[in-house]
Amino acid sequence: MRKPIVMGNWKLNGTKQSVADLIKAFVEPANQAFGKAEVAICAPAIFIGSVEQYAQGSKLQWGSEDCDIHDSGAYTGENSPAMLKEFGCTYAIVGHSERRGYHHESNEEVAAKFKAAQNQGLIPVLCIGESEAEFEAQKTMDVVKAELKAVIDLCGIAAFKQAVIAYEPIWAIGTGKTATPEIAQSVHSQIREYLKSFDAEVAAGVRILYGGSCNAKTAPELFSQQDIDGGLIGGASLKAPDFTAIINAAVANA
Ligand code: 13P
Repeated sequence: MRKPIVMGNWKLNGTKQSVADLIKAFVEPANQAFGKAEVAICAPAIFIGSVEQYAQGSKLQWGSEDCDIHDSGAYTGENSPAMLKEFGCTYAIVGHSERRGYHHESNEEVAAKFKAAQNQGLIPVLCIGESEAEFEAQKTMDVVKAELKAVIDLCGIAAFKQAVIAYEPIWAIGTGKTATPEIAQSVHSQIREYLKSFDAEVAAGVRILYGGSCNAKTAPELFSQQDIDGGLIGGASLKAPDFTAIINAAVANA
């Protein structure tokens, strides 16, 4: 039985005040969901200490939006998995399409981040997904398989026992164009099939989240799909009532 995860990704948003307000608002729904669904917030690195302060002692988990491949050294501006671990992170998002796109992160670099995160005991949340042009050219599975294969080559298939996958079609991110539940389910089940060709047990156990304009309205039907194990939520994780409704949708489908 895969326990769903509702995970917020705040991206480059927030103030000291909004972090305090949102985390305080999410603690109770996360506590209530505990046992049925996990709830986590991935925040800008500068706010992670505050998230830790407000969420500590609750069932709300937290993580980073990225991490470096090194644990320390002359890498100005980076945040290491060791530092994130010290601030209580459970998760580290790696390979978000905004990092792959704006920061030119290759599949190999993302795989190295996945490995570095796991080496420090963080759970990597590997984001994969195709562009609109690739979707229209029916290249979705070629793209996501290549993104997965880079990690399998570097870390081995067993590494997915301690990882989460987030399928985020780029054309659905921040656009209001959610993938239909049918499209999302079809890709999720093909991702699981692909992993099954390496290891059936790992494939059956790994949680695959959907991301891309997943909101209070679309979450219930998305989460009712067999291979969708929760969501990676951008915009709606910045609004307490919306994120709470999404948590409730995950609990209802657990
Ligand atoms: P939106 O929910 O704002 O579309 O963002 C999705 C996303 O990129 C989460 O990582």
